[in-house]
Amino acid sequence: MLIFLWKFIVFHFLIISCCLLTYVNPEDNPGIPAIAKYFNTKGRYEEVNPYLREDILAVNRSILQPPSAQCQEIHLTVIIRHGTRYPTTKNIKGMQQLYNIVLHNASGEESWLREIQTQWRMWYTEDMDGRLVQKDMEFDYAVNDALMRFFDQCTRFVQEVDNNPSALSEVDKFKQGPEMRRVQEKIADRLRVPYSLITHDMTQAAFYLCAYEFAIKAANSPWCQLFDEEGAKVMEYASDLREFWKRGYGYDINSKSSCALFHDVFSRLDKAASEINSGQQVTEAVTVQVGHADTLLPLLTLLGFFKDNVTLTSTNYATQAKRSFRTSHMLPYAANLLLVLYDCGGGDLRLQPLLNEKPVTFPGLTDQRASIPLYQDVRGHYSDLLKGCDFETECQLFKHPAEV
Ligand SMILES: *[C@@H]1O[C@H](CO)[C@@H](O)[C@H](O)[C@H]1NC(C)=O
Ligand SMILES: *[C@@H]1O[C@H](CO)[C@@H](O)[C@H](O)[C@H]1NC(C)=O
Ligand SMILES: *[C@@H]1O[C@H](CO)[C@@H](O)[C@H](O)[C@H]1NC(C)=O
Repeated sequence: MLIFLWKFIVFHFLIISCCLLTYVNPEDNPGIPAIAKYFNTKGRYEEVNPYLREDILAVNRSILQPPSAQCQEIHLTVIIRHGTRYPTTKNIKGMQQLYNIVLHNASGEESWLREIQTQWRMWYTEDMDGRLVQKDMEFDYAVNDALMRFFDQCTRFVQEVDNNPSALSEVDKFKQGPEMRRVQEKIADRLRVPYSLITHDMTQAAFYLCAYEFAIKAANSPWCQLFDEEGAKVMEYASDLREFWKRGYGYDINSKSSCALFHDVFSRLDKAASEINSGQQVTEAVTVQVGHADTLLPLLTLLGFFKDNVTLTSTNYATQAKRSFRTSHMLPYAANLLLVLYDCGGGDLRLQPLLNEKPVTFPGLTDQRASIPLYQDVRGHYSDLLKGCDFETECQLFKHPAEV
């Protein structure tokens, strides 16, 4: 069963990403931070799929159903995110500053505070700067940065978004806004220090400390106690806002930077489909492509997933509380987009997308008696992209013909 092979692959990435073999009881477990479901791209895969906390190899057959009994999986394409990164130098500096404040200025008898003051050690060093925690790939693989690190190679994206501070102005405004100020004040209250002592960088560092200690060490860090649920939601929104403007719907070039990967995925599906249609065996049953959160989000955006009908901005935190663009759900560690091509006989080929083992529907392709659409309908839906979406054209700096 191809699904199980794929599950094995996901499992492999969970292991090398992290430290998840320690068994932790589901729900109200003291080992899991209460705010763990708000960790954005630093969240654990099991927070998205809680049933995996007990058995990481579990496959939920009730949600992985073929369109009908006569359908067979003939091809799987997986794009999976690997690696847990250490914090960046900027975050590590914020951690160090906050730690100093807790050591020298904070007061109180709470056990978590005493734990930081007496037992916790600052083990992050600036030379870790964003490095992967582990990267021991055990199977053969080919590196194709043009395909999987397209975000570095798309000149227009690099200049107009990645290296352009004003591209993230909504994020900066939110960081200085009333919701974030309240989070900082609550941290200061909990440490019993003046409000002026806690900066935004320290607040972010505290949130990362909680997330990293959990991802890297499977620990419910005492730093997590600096946030209540509301504070965690504000931190989550700040990060979603950043992803939205940097990798998501904020700018068209963000998603267009993934054009080459988009075509690559469809060319694999086309190949499998044409082999089946001409009565041959499928030559590649499973393809696995390994990338980063930065790889998956532009592609998900290009395909139209998780698009709210309102732009995320610095001022609509409250009204976007039920937004679908939520990176904690979309892009935890080991996040994966799986496309399953089914042969249902008589030329009836169907394509099912799953994100993190959950079926999702192609946006705009919801009129299906069967929930899994015909492959040709999927191609039809994306026909403009299939005909265009040329990486070279989209990523060059001067205006596109369509915009002149
Ligand atoms: C499988 O998925 C269904 C539907 O989402 C869910 O209700 C069920 O609890 C899941 N099974 C397990 C074992 O968690
Ligand atoms: C924090 O502690 C340091 C070191 O003891 C001290 O120099 C500084 O004045 C304190 N800051 C405040 C605002 O209390
Ligand atoms: C889009 O947003 C408006 C409110 O701004 C709402 O009334 C409408 O139902 C939304 N449409 C969808 C499809 O969610």
